Amino acid sequence: MRYADIHARSLTDPNGFWMDQAEAIDWFRKPSKALFDENAPLYEWFSDGMVNTCWNAVDRHVEAGHGERVAIIHDSPVTHTKHWITYAELRDRVASLAGALRARGVEKGDRVVIYMPMVPEALEAMLACARIGAVHSVVFGGFAAPELAKRINDARPRAVIAASCGIEPGRVVHYKPLLDEAIETAAHKPDFCVIFQRDQEVAKLIEGRDLDWHAFQYGVTPAECVPVEGNHPAYILYTSGTTGQPKGVVRHTGGHLVALKWTMKNIYGVEPGEVFWSASDVGWVVGHSYICYAPLIHGATTIVFEGKPVGTPDAGTFWRVIAEHGVVSFFTAPTAFRAIKREDPEGRHLGDHDISSLRCLFLAGERADPDTIAWAHEKLEVPVVDHWWQTETGWAIAANPMGLQPLPVKPGSPSVPMPGYDVQVLGEDGAPLPQGELGAIAIRLPLPPGTLPTLWKAEERFRKSYLSTFPGYYETGDAGYIDKDGYIYIMARTDDVINVAGHRLSTGAMEEVLASHPDVGECAVIGMTDPLKGQVPLGFLCLNNGVTRAPEDVIAECVALVREKIGPVAAFRQAVVVDRLPKTRSGKILRAVMTKIADGQPWTMPATIDDPAILDEIAAALKAIGRPGNAAG
Ligand code: COA
Ligand code: AMP
Repeated sequence: MRYADIHARSLTDPNGFWMDQAEAIDWFRKPSKALFDENAPLYEWFSDGMVNTCWNAVDRHVEAGHGERVAIIHDSPVTHTKHWITYAELRDRVASLAGALRARGVEKGDRVVIYMPMVPEALEAMLACARIGAVHSVVFGGFAAPELAKRINDARPRAVIAASCGIEPGRVVHYKPLLDEAIETAAHKPDFCVIFQRDQEVAKLIEGRDLDWHAFQYGVTPAECVPVEGNHPAYILYTSGTTGQPKGVVRHTGGHLVALKWTMKNIYGVEPGEVFWSASDVGWVVGHSYICYAPLIHGATTIVFEGKPVGTPDAGTFWRVIAEHGVVSFFTAPTAFRAIKREDPEGRHLGDHDISSLRCLFLAGERADPDTIAWAHEKLEVPVVDHWWQTETGWAIAANPMGLQPLPVKPGSPSVPMPGYDVQVLGEDGAPLPQGELGAIAIRLPLPPGTLPTLWKAEERFRKSYLSTFPGYYETGDAGYIDKDGYIYIMARTDDVINVAGHRLSTGAMEEVLASHPDVGECAVIGMTDPLKGQVPLGFLCLNNGVTRAPEDVIAECVALVREKIGPVAAFRQAVVVDRLPKTRSGKILRAVMTKIADGQPWTMPATIDDPAILDEIAAALKAIGRPGNAAG
């Protein structure tokens, strides 16, 4: 069947289409139907099936005789080590860890927070939770203690699994003190912590609370896979919204398995036993879906890469990994390619490695600029496929289905909607806009399996954030248009979320931190265009009356404060001090206009502006830090 027929069937006969796809999953009890729409506009998939993610990702491949197949390759240029773990070894390791968690009282439905760098043990911890029906919540290592504490308070985990440290080029990230600080400040206290001690740093354990990863598993009975309902939460993953309180995206088990399995062959063109590599981090949704779950559910080999595109040790690292491990399909963020291109514009490093195993490159996480796509295509000589998705959806909303029917690539577009996604462009009144017109991108409900059914313990917030603006639709928060061939173009966010080096961040969260500085009276944060990272945050600070300190000192303290409260990943390095912020007469800060001035884009004077002269002051402040700061056009 071709793409167009499959997409059409997924919308006209969702039950039939997804029940067919569910055949690729092992169920303890098959679901009676795919779509559960009794509580519309809240939808669920495969709710009455009984299933286990770990069984499907690990055990069943061993049972099928593939125990000797490599499941995980850990390639770590930052520690100069490489390890290979077969499916049989993975099953034993995960069963042992799951048994140890269970022996300490972790049961189906209990939450477990995982705070780990790019080591196979992070995947083992996720799979061990899945094995016993515990709900994991992985926190990205680049977040600081207060962000970890927020997630601990919201998820209320029975246990935390962490590593002693992570390794960033040039520095060791001390995870354990960050974890200790987070638990100390959090209102919720986990019963215990399991610490994976790395050779690079052995952390001090707190007696009575912390357990050593190995010692804790000694002598335990390995756990079997516990059947859970199709609508049992597989995990919670926190993502940035418009406020400082992150949103706990929930993923249900059944739909997650069915959707991810479908994508491996149909989108990524991978066969079981082949090597698939996603160079992201387990702390992000891409890492959940495409470092851990999808490749393993499919019986492929996944690579856990602990390094960077450049500097570990050079801009040829990606090519080395592809060549050495025979990667057939590779997934990363455009920013990684911009980093490589900047260091090695001629692609000289490619000459040192035979990357002929590679069939396709997939990009996501931020807008893929046509220049980067063209460079990657020219140098790698394989199709370069941009695809669009979000933490909320867990898999691609729009892509080019390379394993099903490769469609012509249009640079600048992540191509066409995937099964179950009825993508529409809506105007402010909620009515669909004509072809080619820019508007809010929304998806007609229901969303397909594998997408978020709700937010953790926050159904009202879920409805308000995603379902209320356009009744009957899921609001993506992205703006764009659809062309005459049905190709989607993603142009910008409609909210205060920015995308820094493929990392999704909330300007609202940064503003909350800046406002807590004693000298800051008012502030705003925007995302300005950056040639490497796509966007970087910029702060505008209005100091309190009577503050006589040098602005540079306040700025330096604010930069340090954001790093301390949110983490290095915020990449908040620049701020300017201004007298006033431009606002509408009703007091709304005009961030969009400030962004346009910072980026040198044409802008028009908003009719509702309170005092137009403030924009001249903003433009002057931006010019002073080397930004275009252009006048209205
Ligand atoms: N743990 C702790 N700190 C981390 C971290 C982690 N897992 N990941 C990043 N950081 C830190 C970095 O060390 C850096 O700290 P610094 O301010 O001390 O230098 C800071 O967070 C900002 O990191 P980043 O924005 O990634 O910038 P960078 O200059 O270190 O690297 C790139 C730039 C382009 C090489 C890098 O961003 C990259 O590889 N991006 C790929 C993006 C990606 O995979 N996204 C996932 C979504 S698909
Ligand atoms: P995250 O939830 O971290 O995956 O971030 C999701 C957001 O990243 C989307 O809502 C988009 O704004 C942006 N994004 C992801 N992929 C793409 C893409 N291929 N093109 C444009 N923007 C993208």
